[in-house]
Amino acid sequence: MKALVLSGGSGTRLRPLSHSLPKQLVPLANQPLLAHVLRGVRDIGITEVGMVVGAGAEQIRQALGDGSGYGVTITYLPQDAPRGLAHAVRVARQYLGDADFLLHLGDNLLPDGLGEPAVKFRRRRAGAHLLVQKVADPRPYGVVELDLAGRVVRLVEKPRHPRSDLALVGACFLTPVVHQAVEAIRPGPRGELELTDAVQWLVDQGVIVRASEYAGYWRDIADSGDVLAGNRHLLATVEPERGGVVDPFSVLGPRVRVEPGARVIRSRVDGPAIVGAGSVIDGSHLGPYTSVGRGCVIRDSELSGSVVMDEARISGVRRLVDSVVGRAATIERGDPRTGCRVVCGDHGRVEIPG
Ligand code: TTP
Repeated sequence: MKALVLSGGSGTRLRPLSHSLPKQLVPLANQPLLAHVLRGVRDIGITEVGMVVGAGAEQIRQALGDGSGYGVTITYLPQDAPRGLAHAVRVARQYLGDADFLLHLGDNLLPDGLGEPAVKFRRRRAGAHLLVQKVADPRPYGVVELDLAGRVVRLVEKPRHPRSDLALVGACFLTPVVHQAVEAIRPGPRGELELTDAVQWLVDQGVIVRASEYAGYWRDIADSGDVLAGNRHLLATVEPERGGVVDPFSVLGPRVRVEPGARVIRSRVDGPAIVGAGSVIDGSHLGPYTSVGRGCVIRDSELSGSVVMDEARISGVRRLVDSVVGRAATIERGDPRTGCRVVCGDHGRVEIPG
C-alpha cells in the first residue's frame, strides 16, 4: 500500500501565516504538521509516499527532503493549481499505479495514528474505507450518511442542512477503482473536483464503501485557532527534557522540554511547554501550552497558550495569550504615550486591549 498526502491548496483560512508558509509546515509542538502526518503513515507500515504539492512546493521539499529522515520515500507530485482533492488524486494516477492507498490530507492532525482503521480496511477491503467522527456542527465538513450495516449511502460536501452528524476525517483508504471515479466527475459548485463527489460516484455504481468511526484525536488545521488547539493537544503529553541551560534563578514545571542550546535565565516556565533549540528566555514567564521555536528571544515578557515560530523576538510584553507569532516576527513594548504602533501583514489580525 502507498500513501498520498495532499499538501497543495491555498490555505486562505490560515492567512497571513500561509502567505509565506505552506500551512502543512506550521509547527505544532515544534515540528511541522507534515512530520506528524508522516509518522502516522509510517506507523502503519507504509513507506512509499506521494506528496501532492502546489505553490509551497519548494519549502515543503526543503523541509522533508526525500523523506528518509521520517523513514519513508517521498515522491513529489506537482499540482498546477488547487483544483480539488479529487483532482489531486488525478495528478497522482501514474504514481499510484494499481496500488491501494491511504489518502491523507496534509493539514489534518491524527496523533493517535491509523492502526485500527488500517486493520479494518485490510481485513474487509471495501472499494473505499472512510473515517468519520461525530461533530457538533457538521456544516463545514464533508458529511456522511450510513446505513445500518455501516455502509456509506450518501456524502455531501459542506451541506447547509446536514442529514447526519458524521464528518469526514481527512484520511481514508482507497482502492484503484477510485481512479475511474475521479475521471468521471465534474467540478462542483466551488469549481473544484470534490472527493465527496468521487466517493458518491462509487456508491452510485454499487461499489461497497464503508466507514468507521475514528476514536482518536482529530483536528483539521484550517485556521489559527486550530493551530493553537492542535499544539495544546500535543503539548499535553510532552516529555520533559533539559537539553539546554537553565540558570539557578529559573523555575521549570514538570512538563517542560528545553531543547539543546536553549537558555532559560531568571524565568518561570510552567509547562506544558517547549523552548526550542538556541532560544533565549530571559526574565520572562511562559504559561501553559506554549511552544517557542528555534532561535527565538523572549525577554521581560509573559505569554501563554501560544505558538512562537523560529527566530521571533518578544520583549517587554505583558500577557500575550493564545497568539500565533510568525517566523522572525518582532513584538515589543512601545512608548505608552504614543499609543500602539503595528506593522501587520496582509490579512493579519491584532487584538489590542481597549
Ligand atoms: P482544504 O483545507 O480543503 O483547502 P485549502 O488548503 O485550500 O484551505 P482553505 O480552504 O483555507 O483555502 O485542503 C485540504 C488539504 O488538501 C490541504 O492540505 C491542502 C490539500 N489540497 C491539495 O493538495 N490540492 C487541492 O486542490 C486542494 C483543494 C487541497
